[in-house]
Amino acid sequence: MARHLVIVTGASSGIGAAFARQFASKGWDLALVARREDRLRELAEEMKARFGVDSVIIAADLSKANAPKEIVKAVEDAGRQVDGLVNNAGAGQPGHFIETKWTDQARFLQLMVTNYLALAHLVAPGMAERGFGRIINVSSVSALLPSANAHTRFSGTLYPGAKSLLIKFSEALHLELSGKNVHVSAVAPGYTWSEFHDVNGARSTVSQMPKFWMLTAEEVATAGYDAVERGIVLRVPGAWYKFLTALSKVLPDPVGRAIMRAQEKRMAARAGASQ
Ligand SMILES: NC(=O)c1ccc[n+]([C@@H]2O[C@H](COP(=O)([O-])OP(=O)(O)OC[C@H]3O[C@@H](n4cnc5c(N)ncnc54)[C@H](OP(=O)(O)O)[C@@H]3O)[C@@H](O)[C@H]2O)c1
Repeated sequence: MARHLVIVTGASSGIGAAFARQFASKGWDLALVARREDRLRELAEEMKARFGVDSVIIAADLSKANAPKEIVKAVEDAGRQVDGLVNNAGAGQPGHFIETKWTDQARFLQLMVTNYLALAHLVAPGMAERGFGRIINVSSVSALLPSANAHTRFSGTLYPGAKSLLIKFSEALHLELSGKNVHVSAVAPGYTWSEFHDVNGARSTVSQMPKFWMLTAEEVATAGYDAVERGIVLRVPGAWYKFLTALSKVLPDPVGRAIMRAQEKRMAARAGASQ
């Protein structure tokens, strides 16, 4: 019997590369997607050597509308079917909403929302028909906490909303596919060591964070894999972020927002002091 195959988007770095390693360690073949093909090839070689799994390498720009169809076609052209999907590729859209071009915001939504949904829409019917599938959508803890200027300045005004949609989408699709052995989960990480904060220009701010606020990409991928296998719809990795999200559920919204403002001021003061 052929091994299962999972598409991992954004596999050239950070959380996506960790998800690829996690699935490969469980015996899944991989379809690795990102723009930096050289990195995907290196990862594929590493996964073959360590776990004996095969990879399809797909260089694609997921801010383009035709990318999802091209990705699925590349997998089918390799003679494979899609049993798993990790929707993970992403970058922020730094800058205030009113000062950025709409074309940039639209590109952000294509990358962070529309193409996540389009890929799921392409692969979920086959999974349902065959009676097996695993879909993970990488959201963010920013979807579960009050928004803060510091976050939206670096990741984008639409970032928390885009990530919120992925949680509600995961919940709804999970329900829709219940009884078909197709599990859908959202994983909502907090600050995670990766290239994300370099790409968004937030490295100096993030490096002011207390160390216990920082997750590793491996922690996120392990938590996400465990959640989807168990059929858990939403997983927040890390004890600190579990505590914060639980707290935000019991605090009145204005109090939560006031705490975020205070934290933001502390971060700004620390960043200023270190310059
Ligand atoms: N790091 C955090 O603190 C954090 C927290 C919560 C949620 N997240 C989410 O986690 C996900 C992964 O981020 P990360 O932290 O692992 O960041 P990362 O290290 O910068 O990785 C981002 C990945 O996405 C790919 N990517 C970016 N733009 C792309 C495009 N237009 N087309 C195709 N691939 C693209 C990148 O590959 P190429 O550049 O090679 O294309 C890279 O593989 C994102 O959705 C992010 O929103 C991150």
